[in-house]
Amino acid sequence: MIGAQWGDEGKGKITDLLSKSADVVVRYQGGVNAGHTVVVQGQTFKLHLIPSGILYPDTECIIGCGTVIDPKVLIEELDQLEALNISTRNLLISETAHVTMPYHRLIDRASEERRGDHKIGTTGRGIGPTYADKSERTGIRVLDLMNPQGLRKQLNWTINYKNVILEKLYNLPPLDPEAVIEEYLAYAERLRPHVVDSSLRIYDAIHRKRNILFEGAQGTLLDLDHGTYPYVTSSNPVAGGACVGTGVGPTMIDRVIGVAKAYTTRVGEGPFPTELQGTLGELLCDRGAEFGTTTGRKRRCGWFDAVIGRYAVRINGMDCLAITKLDVLDELEEIKVCVAYEIDGQRCENFPSSARVFASCQPIYKTLPGWQKSTAECRTLEDLPKQALDYLKFLAELMEVPIAIVSLGASRDQTIIVEDPIHGPKRALLHADGTPVSV
Ligand code: GDP
Ligand code: IMO
Ligand code: MG
Repeated sequence: MIGAQWGDEGKGKITDLLSKSADVVVRYQGGVNAGHTVVVQGQTFKLHLIPSGILYPDTECIIGCGTVIDPKVLIEELDQLEALNISTRNLLISETAHVTMPYHRLIDRASEERRGDHKIGTTGRGIGPTYADKSERTGIRVLDLMNPQGLRKQLNWTINYKNVILEKLYNLPPLDPEAVIEEYLAYAERLRPHVVDSSLRIYDAIHRKRNILFEGAQGTLLDLDHGTYPYVTSSNPVAGGACVGTGVGPTMIDRVIGVAKAYTTRVGEGPFPTELQGTLGELLCDRGAEFGTTTGRKRRCGWFDAVIGRYAVRINGMDCLAITKLDVLDELEEIKVCVAYEIDGQRCENFPSSARVFASCQPIYKTLPGWQKSTAECRTLEDLPKQALDYLKFLAELMEVPIAIVSLGASRDQTIIVEDPIHGPKRALLHADGTPVSV
């Protein structure tokens, strides 16, 4: 299951729904930059690293090797869940995931400040620098944490090296290697019972015919390779990332479920063609409670963009789509959908690779009538106002992907299941109403 936009599509809610039929839920990329909100029976859970499947007592939850783990935040998350009587005994952590260290957080924030007007608007959680060290081959992995003697040696060297960068480049005070080593050795002991060879574990589960759900964080447009570079995160949220980020071969993945909001939001910097300034943007932000789960930042809001939607269908090989937050559009008199861009006077149907070109795209809109009725209590497609159903059909047609789930509120029950997204037809090429899509 992947995000089809710029993150915060409501993946937490959809993972929670799908986890009911999953035996194992696996995070494959990202770190504590993610913020997934799940509302169950009026209780709100905010998860950053632990897969949203943890709310089911018998579901095994795995934090895969493609993630980056901030042990401090992970332990806080474990404590919070335990305090709410949610068992965390089924949480497993990949021994080859990389570890976010204090210098990663410091460098993330300092480098953003240094970038000035060119800043990315990161979450400041050290994500980019942790992945950079992984690529540079100076990273600390979970299995390094588990070896106190080796860790002491490795961290002494690394912290002295990072202190040069902190002091000379960013004018920051150096870190005390001994204090950091002691802090991380304590984290290691707390996490040790959860650490496993996660790829082997998943392979065994596949052999036992278990249902495995790979839970993407962030979204397609934040993908390091396929997103709006450089305004992206440092991992691969796209479906392909699930293979690399878990050690599972592509032949073992049966289907790809996308999640998109009925409109678009984005946190941080970077071009956003359908962004709404002024009262309409404010209205979507208010009705959708569009404030970041991780940083509390206000999310930028705009109309649904079917160009990026189609791109997400292509890049992820998406079989079906969950559309969330349809209820947020309930009051609007009319709703716009971006069907194509105009670039230098030319109509363009495809997402451009360059952020500079993307910034110059003018959206070409189709305007649809609103329904101006509450959809929050609808539980079948037939319950929806005609205009709302027409809106969904229009999106499915534009993106050439069937809509399997429609979400109309934050809680589990505020959902219409159109097609079973797990056992239903693959890339069924159906509209929301079940009629075939001609491609
Ligand atoms: P994620 O990062 O993709 O998991 O999304 P977030 O949890 O960061 O943001 C989505 C927000 O929308 C959360 O506060 C959810 O509780 C909420 N939400 C999810 N689905 C719906 C929906 O259908 N309607 C409304 N109004 N809120 C929703
Ligand atoms: P979930 O999983 C929305 C954005 C940041 C910034 C860019 C890079 O909740 O959908 P980073 O800290 O990753 O280096 O920041 O990516 N970003 C997100 N936006 N939802 C997220 O996660 C995000 N994780 C990172 O705002 O623009
Ligand atoms: Mg989020």
